[in-house]
Amino acid sequence: MSLIAVVLAAGQGTRMKSDQAKVLHTAAGRTLLGWVLEAVRGVGPDRTLVVTGHGAEQVEAELPSTVEAVRQGEQLGTGHATSVAVGRLGPMSADDTVLVVYGDMPLMTSDLLTQVVETRRGKDAALVTVELPPSNGFGRVVRDEEGGFLRVVEMKDATPAERSIGEANAGIYAFSGEALAATLDRLETDNVQKEYYLPDVLPLLLGWGGVVTVTGRPEDLIGVNSHDHLAEVEALLRRRINLTWQQEGVWMQDPERVYLDAGVRLAAGVRLYPGVHLEGETAVSEGAVIGPDVYARDCIIGSGARVWYSVLRSARVGADVDVGPYASLREGTVLEAGSKAGTFVEMKNAIVGPGAKVPHLSYMGDATIGARANVGAGSITCNYDGYDKHPTVIGEDAFIGSDTMLVAPVNVGDRAVIGAGSVVTRDVKPGALAVERSSQIEIPGYAARREERHRSRQSED
Ligand code: UD1
Ligand code: MG
Repeated sequence: MSLIAVVLAAGQGTRMKSDQAKVLHTAAGRTLLGWVLEAVRGVGPDRTLVVTGHGAEQVEAELPSTVEAVRQGEQLGTGHATSVAVGRLGPMSADDTVLVVYGDMPLMTSDLLTQVVETRRGKDAALVTVELPPSNGFGRVVRDEEGGFLRVVEMKDATPAERSIGEANAGIYAFSGEALAATLDRLETDNVQKEYYLPDVLPLLLGWGGVVTVTGRPEDLIGVNSHDHLAEVEALLRRRINLTWQQEGVWMQDPERVYLDAGVRLAAGVRLYPGVHLEGETAVSEGAVIGPDVYARDCIIGSGARVWYSVLRSARVGADVDVGPYASLREGTVLEAGSKAGTFVEMKNAIVGPGAKVPHLSYMGDATIGARANVGAGSITCNYDGYDKHPTVIGEDAFIGSDTMLVAPVNVGDRAVIGAGSVVTRDVKPGALAVERSSQIEIPGYAARREERHRSRQSED
């Protein structure tokens, strides 16, 4: 009594007008196929086969190791794709179930798939149908006078009367393995598209042990055939993701304006303001407040951190750290607990020690900043000499005056002080003061003499 899942993903997706295979387009941080495989995984199949064709190599590269790829050389239709997969399976009994789904339907849920599989038991097939207007292009479900299922007719093959039927075929089926294997061979291509249609096995099965239908919800059953469908699907997935996190205790001022990828992890008590985009594998700990307007990809953000109006990529932000407004933290940035990257501060490959502050208008690249050090406004590391990058090390409790240029490679010792406006090209010893600028001169009475000069020029004119 095994359950085998077959996902059809060999089609081209002409209407996407893209070189990329349709099922590899992403919505909310996961490919369309990834979403489908996630739903399928939730049913717990014994084996999962994915039928690939267009862009097969790219599609197969994205597959988890637990699923098997089956190549469909030529795309001769959904019935043909299914038979290629079934050809891989050994003999099956009526107790074995084959669940067939299409790879371009990312909103399908594990619950719905489980329901189809369970409804099928003791029958030859179950399929999901859904009330959808004919304008959406899905095949129509034709029933007899008593309401019994007869067949699915594709829009392109339908008579005007059939085209106005409100019930559509969602493209999710559970079959008895034995019945499916016995009927796929009997499919023909006597239709407008000259394809082997999978739903055409259903009328052949009516003579065996019956076909039953399961009613699905339209919002779970959007097939992506074009970019407007993709955006619609993305909005629905985002709503689901946000609702899940809200139920986990995350506060969102306006969930319509919070964009979370599927791989993001949030703790209870996280607060998200509008315009927050958290992508990739970003994780946020309890009590952190993010936004308004933050983009973070593959970042770890610690508890109680405050991040607003900023861009973060592969950065690690510790507990109670302050970021922004208008900070850009690039790959390799690590802000230890209680530190700060303030207004108009850019960092790359920089480690900022606990409690250290870089509050205003700075660039820290390839730098290590010791605990409690303070980097004054406008100070930067000159880490690039036009050929290579060089490191800067700032010691613990060091005080870097405003507008300091740290010409790397250079070390500033613990507790050292740099006078504002210095260009530091040599190492500074711990506890020392380094100043690099011309000394200030003072000319007494200068302003009065200047005024006098100006007045006398005016009287000459
Ligand atoms: C199909 C159904 C239609 C249903 C709709 C729901 C058929 C004949 N029609 O139409 O009744 O309402 O889905 O979304 O099945 N594929 C292959 N190999 C092929 C052809 C297709 O793997 O040779 C894959 C595609 O990649 C896609 C899926 O099968 O993921 C469905 O194919 P598609 O061309 O999108 O079928 P629809 O016209 O949407
Ligand atoms: Mg389709």
